[in-house]
Amino acid sequence: PRKIIIDTDPGQDDAVAILLALASPEEVEVLGICAVAGNVPLALTARNARIVCELAGQPGVKVFAGCDRPLSRKLVTAEYVHGATGLDGPQLPDPVMPLQDRHAVDFIIETLRAEPAGTVTLCPLGPLTNIATALQRAPDIASRIQEIVLMGGAYFEVGNVTPAAEFNIYVDPQAADIVFRSGVPLVVMPLDVTHKALTTRPRIEAFRAMGTEPGRMVAEWTDFFERFDVQKYGSEGAPLHDPCVIAWLIRPELFTGRHINVEIETQSELTLGMTVADWWGVTDRKPNALFIGDLDADGFYALLTERIARL
Ligand code: BDR
Ligand code: CA
Repeated sequence: PRKIIIDTDPGQDDAVAILLALASPEEVEVLGICAVAGNVPLALTARNARIVCELAGQPGVKVFAGCDRPLSRKLVTAEYVHGATGLDGPQLPDPVMPLQDRHAVDFIIETLRAEPAGTVTLCPLGPLTNIATALQRAPDIASRIQEIVLMGGAYFEVGNVTPAAEFNIYVDPQAADIVFRSGVPLVVMPLDVTHKALTTRPRIEAFRAMGTEPGRMVAEWTDFFERFDVQKYGSEGAPLHDPCVIAWLIRPELFTGRHINVEIETQSELTLGMTVADWWGVTDRKPNALFIGDLDADGFYALLTERIARL
């Protein structure tokens, strides 16, 4: 299996991504889960990550708390999407498993130095603050990262938090800029692809029909998650963003994209956090990311239901 570190701000869709990873030990080995401030403040994302591990029956997974605010801006959260806890929907018990003592950024640096170079993949599902802080503090780790597969950005689908920007990049554009300039191979799941991974009624009911606790939670989370996005987009379901990252690691053939140059707007007030993606190759800027544009949505949900049913 591919060794991964999940960096996350759960978030219902982050939670489903974590479950997918923990249900797929043949393809991915989760070395640790790092919480970051994003959808809700750090204390809640660190709590939510542990709730999800316990739900998966894996309380031994190491969960670390990381940065509690972006590199140079005030934290912007998204309770209006995810609810006050970040995981609104079902009733959830408080986690029993401990939070690790080490800071998430130290864990990322130490793990990348300890494991053979090129064998650890980072999977950011929230703002890129922890990853950028690690790269700044320990530039030697850049060449040791196998790949960064992240959810963030948008091109044709433009913004979900401002007209120009996607939430994860908008919350910490400086951090995103550091990651996109790092030279580390990037795979990017922008809104262009996640808005095709819609939680339709039959897809949600397939989770509920499992009759398991994880199945029921995923159904209730996606039920809750829908309320906001279906109203906003008028679509037949809500985009399930973050699980696309883990699905890529398990079944990359479900996705298509282009290897292009992507840069982050860090100055403009109007378009702050925009991912300027050279999709049509109109510049001679060097490609730095595999920017995903499409997925086989039925194949993606078939994978998700098959794996969540294993928990
Ligand atoms: C991203 O923002 C968060 O609200 C979701 O968890 C996802 O990571 C989508 O823009
Ligand atoms: Ca997220």
